[in-house]
Amino acid sequence: MKSTANKIKLSNDLKVLQNTVLHFKTIDSTNRFLLDAEDLLNGTVVLADDQTAGRGRFNRTWQSLPETALLFSILLNNLFGRKMPSVYTFLAAVGVYRGLQASLPSGSNLSLKWPNDVLLNEKKICGILVQGKITTGRYEKLVIGIGLNVNQQQQFFVEDLKHATSLAAESGYEWDRIGILKNVLIAIDHLLNTLQESGDRPIIRMWQDACGSIGREIAIDDGKEIYRGVFDSLAEDGGLRLKIGSKLRLFYAGDVTVLKE
Ligand code: BTN
Repeated sequence: MKSTANKIKLSNDLKVLQNTVLHFKTIDSTNRFLLDAEDLLNGTVVLADDQTAGRGRFNRTWQSLPETALLFSILLNNLFGRKMPSVYTFLAAVGVYRGLQASLPSGSNLSLKWPNDVLLNEKKICGILVQGKITTGRYEKLVIGIGLNVNQQQQFFVEDLKHATSLAAESGYEWDRIGILKNVLIAIDHLLNTLQESGDRPIIRMWQDACGSIGREIAIDDGKEIYRGVFDSLAEDGGLRLKIGSKLRLFYAGDVTVLKE
């Protein structure tokens, strides 16, 4: 069965994103849809109420429950010759952070975790997966996929999901998903415009300012070994600088755990 999309109207003031979101009830994966689609405009946004094959980092599956999370992806096919996609991961994380700041009571405990998680009360509320299509050595397009937990109840977050949470699980009440989506997309649009006009540096700086673990002791699991040290800073190219004793070591992938003080 071929599913059809409804449309959600966004603000007319957007500079980079298209102002209508394609909204599917069910789709396999919003990332896969945009990676395979042809002839869609730069800045197209696709939202799904449910995904049958949602993808996470490291080829993991991304689980949700129908109509509880915001599962959406953004297509970028006008990359201005950029080769390195990592800045888009940081940009998306800052966008979600700012969109949530605009939606939640002031003083809410939001932070960012390297490389691409947004935390609420130190638990993961959002994951980001940037995927690209490369033709003759260049990125032809990028897709920023965002899974933001909104209305899942606390009971959903057990076993593998025990370090995750949702807005409803933290607050005890339901949230307007589309209202939050609009705030996040407005923030991302603003950041995409900043990137276009001023380059990577302001984005990296904003990410560092919102990160909760710089200066803290962390463990990083690169899939082969676990390293412990202090999260020193973010390199210009998005790498994590870990201070182990007096030496700095750079990481480009891995799972970070903040160690208790
Ligand atoms: C992570 O592992 O932390 C990243 C998860 C990204 C999930 C989102 S949900 C919308 C989009 N479509 C997918 O298949 N994955 C991303």
